[in-house]
Formats: sequence, structure tokens, C-alpha cells
Amino acid sequence: MTSTSDDLAALIRTIPDFPKPGIMFRDITTLLLDASGFARAVERIVDAVDGPVDLVAGIEARGFIFAAPVALALGAGTLLVRKDGKLPGATVAEDYALEYGTDRIAIHADAFAPGARILLVDDLIATGGTARAAARLLRKVGAVVTQAAFVIDLPELGGADALRAEGIDVTALVA
Ligand code: PRP
Ligand code: ADE
Repeated sequence: MTSTSDDLAALIRTIPDFPKPGIMFRDITTLLLDASGFARAVERIVDAVDGPVDLVAGIEARGFIFAAPVALALGAGTLLVRKDGKLPGATVAEDYALEYGTDRIAIHADAFAPGARILLVDDLIATGGTARAAARLLRKVGAVVTQAAFVIDLPELGGADALRAEGIDVTALVA
């Protein structure tokens, strides 16, 4: 954890054994309740962005909260990466592995033209399964995905490194 992230770390609450025994749940609801902390988190993600971005893709559900203000600050659009079955138009989907079984995320097939430069944003990266699936999905539709930003990284789970190995620069505000 860098010294500049200590203020944000202090606003994130840890709830042990949620949603199941052994998981230390990093709860951003306390950060969101603090207007200045939330604003600093958004600002730091915006500051870390390198080069032009056409769209900011937020991953359902907590990713949406950070993606939208980052997109507005960058003058970019906001793209919703949703759990499958929630979007009304024609979609393209991607499966990914969970601890037990699989899940599926989707975007609208006509959300952007090939070559769109997309920044991926989520509240947290753990195993990286969700973010890697989102990057695969966006790239499948022709996006250029070279940057991702997270408020929290759980580095022992290796997700950020796995994303970097796929050619994506990863920013995380708190580790
Ligand atoms: C959480 C978090 C990330 C994902 C990280 O979302 O917001 O999207 O898990 O885990 P991973 O790196 O191991 O894939 P969750 O699926 O709990 O959904 P939520 O945002 O709707 O609560
Ligand atoms: N998503 C995956 N792992 C998590 C954790 N430890 N806390 C909050 N969200 C998570």
C-alpha cells in the first residue's frame, strides 16, 4: 500500500466471513458514504489514465459506481458490462469461471465500433476472473483495452498480475 492510499484504505471496512467463512470482505460502502473520500478515489483513477479513452467500462454492480464519474471526468462514455440477461438489446457474452461453476457477463453488441479505446473499471480485483472475462469480451467486439483501474487489489490472489500478462496496465489505489 502506498502512503497516498492510506486515507482511502482507512475508509474501506473489512467484514470477516462474508459471504462465507474465511472470506475477508472489503466493503466500499463506507468509502462511498464519505463524499471527499469517494471524490479522491475517482480523481486518482482519472489521474492514472494514460492517453485518450473513448469509453469507460464498469463491471456490474460495484464497478458502475466508479466507472460513471471517471467517464464524465474524462469526457468519455460509460459502458455497462452486465451480468447476462439484464441488457435489453442484442448482446455479446463471455463466460468465466467462479470458485464453483461459471458465470456470464454481457454488453450490447452495438455499444461501440471496432477500435474504440476502452478503460476497464471495477471496485476490486481478486482472482481477476471477472476483469479478464470483461477484457476478453470487449476485445472480442474489437475494443482496444490497454488500461484497467480498481479501487482495491487483493494481490495475493494474482488477478492484477494475470491482467498485466494480457497486456493491460493495471492501476489499483489500495492493496
Ligand atoms: C466482485 C467485485 C469484482 C469481482 C472481483 O463482484 O466487484 O467485480 O467480485 O472478483 P474476481 O477478481 O475474483 O473476479 P461481485 O461478483 O461480487 O458482484 P457485485 O459487484 O455485484 O457485488
Ligand atoms: N470480490 C471478490 N473478493 C472480494 C472481497 N474479498 N471483498 C469484496 N469483494 C470481493
